[in-house]
Amino acid sequence: MNQRSFALRSLSQLLNLGLLPQILFNSFVNNQKHQEKMADIMEKKLSSEEAMKLENDHGAHNYHPLPVVLDRGEGVFVWDLEGKKYFDFLSAYSAVNQGHCHPKIVNAMTAQAQKLTLTSRAFYNSVLGEYERFITEYFGFEKVLPMNTGAEAVETAIKICRKWAYEKKGIAQDQAIIVVCEQNFHGRTTTIVSFSDDQDARKSFGPYTPGFVSVPYNDLEALEKAMSMPNVAGFLVEPIQGEAGVNTPAEDYISKAAEICRKNNALFIADEVQTGIARTGSLLAVCGNCNCEGHCEQQSSYTKPDLLILGKALSGGAYPVSAVLSDNDIMEVIKPGQHGSTFGGNPVAGEVAMAALQVVTDEKLAQNARKLGEIFRAEMQKLVDESPLLKGVRGKGLLNAVLINDTPESKTAWNLCVAMKDNGLLAKPTHGNIIRFAPPLVMTESQLIECIAIIKKTFLDYKS
Ligand SMILES: Cc1ncc(COP(=O)(O)O)c(C=O)c1O
Repeated sequence: MNQRSFALRSLSQLLNLGLLPQILFNSFVNNQKHQEKMADIMEKKLSSEEAMKLENDHGAHNYHPLPVVLDRGEGVFVWDLEGKKYFDFLSAYSAVNQGHCHPKIVNAMTAQAQKLTLTSRAFYNSVLGEYERFITEYFGFEKVLPMNTGAEAVETAIKICRKWAYEKKGIAQDQAIIVVCEQNFHGRTTTIVSFSDDQDARKSFGPYTPGFVSVPYNDLEALEKAMSMPNVAGFLVEPIQGEAGVNTPAEDYISKAAEICRKNNALFIADEVQTGIARTGSLLAVCGNCNCEGHCEQQSSYTKPDLLILGKALSGGAYPVSAVLSDNDIMEVIKPGQHGSTFGGNPVAGEVAMAALQVVTDEKLAQNARKLGEIFRAEMQKLVDESPLLKGVRGKGLLNAVLINDTPESKTAWNLCVAMKDNGLLAKPTHGNIIRFAPPLVMTESQLIECIAIIKKTFLDYKS
């Protein structure tokens, strides 16, 4: 019996038994219930408790979020599901430098999303070339390779560096070494965790990718020694180690490290996924202590990386956009088919990134971060002097951390973040006894003063 006659026979049997109306009714009711449930979820008629339970029940437990459920954001503020308002002092790990839902970025994104979202790189698209010209001119490089996430851009830089080493430097195949720093954080792919010393990020994810050598951060002597080994292709470094707790190196570390790379014919690779795009009070952290009043002037403190890695704030947090920038002599080692991504370079990403970078220039976000950062650290230093709970404050621009006078295993930093949340400000511990403070760079001075008051009150009221 074929499928059609089987279905007809089943239907006539159901009709004979009078079951069809019941079946149709049940299916209607079930469908109705399912639709109501979906509508509830879509309309977010949830309490914070319910939303947290849903994540807990249905999502992998690969994060340990602060117990707050955010539903809306605007500028420096976010609101939870019950409508409570908070100052955001994390900015999605420095992705939301331009503030939540910046209208110029959102408009660029929605306008392009209604026109053309994705072509893949199988074809040209009408935005990519314009974006590539914009971003290369903006940062002063000849070429860009567009990707989506920070980790992908780091992987991209590693691949370019290795290929450059074999094809331009003449290192024997599979022998290239990239020097990295202890306590680094460059993302979470299998290759990247291979050279991490964070046991949570690394343990049980082997076998690990070879070809990396670690040196202590901010130690030029150790770097000099490592870079003079045979087969060294490059040095991959964060100009300030964000995840490690805003480890801020000596002022000349980056420029001297780049000099050592040049001396050894190796690439200087700056991972500015977190530090870049105005966060540290200059367009890039490799700008050093500049006092640019307008768009980046690349003053004498500027160190040009051979490969610059950007992500996060490249889209103002609206969309995953990352990039690797370099000059022709390096980027030309990549040929068709050797690297890519379906979404990398899509037209929405291009429009979003151009808008996000334009906001940084127009609203003088680097200059604002520079000015507010000075105020923040000075006020935190007063608190450190006053409170036995604190050991110190460090950072640059609006990427700062306070060090808690407790062990890295203690819960004090976490408890303080929960107490700050209750007082209307959201920050997160990095490792153990360190709290990172990184608000959107659109914050005003009076808002910052209000935030400092919340932080001080929380710390001074805190009872362990
Ligand atoms: C310096 C640095 N590099 C790379 C990454 C990875 O970026 P993503 O999480 O977008 O993959 C991060 C993320 O925090 C970072 O801080």
